[in-house]
Amino acid sequence: MKLMLLRALTGFAALAAIATAVAQTAAPAKDAVLPYLSKDQSVGVVNCSSSLCHGSVRPYKESNVLQTEYVTWSRVDKHARAFQVLANPLSQRIARNLGIGDPTKAKVCLDCHAHNIPQNLRGERFVFEDGVSCEACHGPAGRWLKDHSEQGATHEKNLAAGLYPVSDPVARAKLCLSCHFGNADRFVTHRLMGAGHPRMSFELDTFTSVEPAHFKPDSDWEKRKRIWDGVQVWAIGQAMVVSELMAVLADPKRSHDGLFPELVLFDCHACHHPMSDKRWTPRVAGLGPGVVRINDSSMLMARQIAKVVDPALGARVAQTMSQLQLAAAGRGGDPAAAARTLQGEMNQLIAMLAATQFGEAQMRAVLAGLIDDGLSGQYSDYAGAEQAAMAIGSVANFMYQKGALKSAGSINTGLAGLQAAVADDERYRPAQFQAALRSFRSSVGL
Ligand code: HEC
Ligand code: HEC
Ligand code: HEC
Ligand code: HEC
Repeated sequence: MKLMLLRALTGFAALAAIATAVAQTAAPAKDAVLPYLSKDQSVGVVNCSSSLCHGSVRPYKESNVLQTEYVTWSRVDKHARAFQVLANPLSQRIARNLGIGDPTKAKVCLDCHAHNIPQNLRGERFVFEDGVSCEACHGPAGRWLKDHSEQGATHEKNLAAGLYPVSDPVARAKLCLSCHFGNADRFVTHRLMGAGHPRMSFELDTFTSVEPAHFKPDSDWEKRKRIWDGVQVWAIGQAMVVSELMAVLADPKRSHDGLFPELVLFDCHACHHPMSDKRWTPRVAGLGPGVVRINDSSMLMARQIAKVVDPALGARVAQTMSQLQLAAAGRGGDPAAAARTLQGEMNQLIAMLAATQFGEAQMRAVLAGLIDDGLSGQYSDYAGAEQAAMAIGSVANFMYQKGALKSAGSINTGLAGLQAAVADDERYRPAQFQAALRSFRSSVGL
């Protein structure tokens, strides 16, 4: 599987100026009800797509929003085709292997590939084939459709009427991960992977920008709601992935599949690489060779984030992470207890991150920490390198927007080198990634 999320630096001059002024924090949104669990009616995409609403081909100058959202979504956003892919040959093969019949009718697939809500909550013009539709992310519009474009509409009123707070990074992370990792209601297990489902990885900031974005934070956005720093969005996303992973590990029903643990929680490439490719080097102290490691790609990121935000918490997080790996490998301790401890630490970190803006020195420390980890051999596994490449892309983009990085040309060359090194998981060579890290480091002068 190739990683296709190429990302070069993008100049957002307007944003750079605005982002320095911190907006008011909106009401806590982390407990919002996910769109598929809402009791409100979903009205369907056709209600949003008129050329006077969100279906304009060109952005409206006088409007708060671009009004081209539908055109972007329907033409270039993969979510619009998420239902259609269930009819393709790969989906047919997955369904055949699982013995679940027609995948376009199977709940296990529809839960993530469509806005799969109860029949009685689908409005007259709701079209199931619209896949991951506007309302699958923005929440059912039954109570806010009419008023949200009227005079006097405010973001707060819309939220109170059931608009999902996608702009809040914690709420957004929960939303995206409900499909891009899974949750207690739906999950891509190793059985699904074994049947042929693509491997999944997620990074909140990168995925938000390559969705592709059908929105543009600008001055009126800032009046209506807060603009979040890209680095904060990345950091919250990583801590949230670890928290979700720990929730599964700590739950005996989800962490096992018969006699075996649920393999999707482990590093895929620890098992799936040619035997002739001898690449083992010591990485987690005390773990030794020939052991299946828990997929720690986002843990490696969260460890760096915690270290920079709060060194004491960072030290505890690092210790819990190695306890977890050792316990999972039968070297003492209870893995479920370690998972619960780490989940608690992640939730603490998320709360801190929601209130922390990264200064330039901290962003440099994050970048340097990620690079040092790589050069000391922490990204010997593909998944870690893939996360590090996306992380560095996110942090560098944000620093560039803030004017903290200058020479876009050489930095983009550095980013392209990192992306080339993770472009294909089956050809991943840790030494190539390390060489790319070294040249990226010299391009930003760290
Ligand atoms: C927990 C949510 C979830 C479940 C359950 C799920 N999928 Fe997916 N699926 C995804 C996500 C997210 C992606 C995109 C992954 C990426 O590209 O990062 C995806 C990608 C795919 C793709 C590749 C699409 C492409 O454009 O190449 C196919 C095919 C697919 N899924 C089929 C299925 C089938 C068939 C089922 C049911 C047996 C299923 N999925 C169940 C979330 C899910
Ligand atoms: C996969 C999830 C997803 C889907 C599907 C989606 N959006 Fe969005 N949308 C977002 C995110 C994330 C943002 C940016 C965060 C924010 O609003 O603060 C956004 C922003 C917007 C904004 C800008 C809001 C503002 O205040 O400026 C509008 C308008 C919008 N979306 C409309 C739509 C419409 C119409 C559709 C369907 C045609 C759609 N979206 C589909 C996730 C989604
Ligand atoms: C209801 C489930 C669902 C939700 C919620 C969701 N996604 Fe997705 N997403 C999918 C599926 C399914 C696919 C694969 C579609 C395909 O390949 O046709 C996908 C694909 C993508 C892709 C393309 C990946 C690639 O490999 O090219 C990006 C980027 C993405 N999603 C970002 C997001 C972001 C950001 C959010 C949260 C704001 C989000 N998604 C929320 C189900 C979801
Ligand atoms: C502990 C080792 C282990 C881990 C970790 C692991 N797998 Fe597997 N995988 C297996 C085994 C064993 C099979 C079954 C091979 C067979 O049936 O011949 C398999 C089968 C598969 C297959 C089907 C291959 C085929 O021949 O059709 C895919 C695809 C796959 N795994 C993907 C993944 C992904 C993605 C991950 C990470 C999220 C992962 N695996 C993690 C051991 C592992």
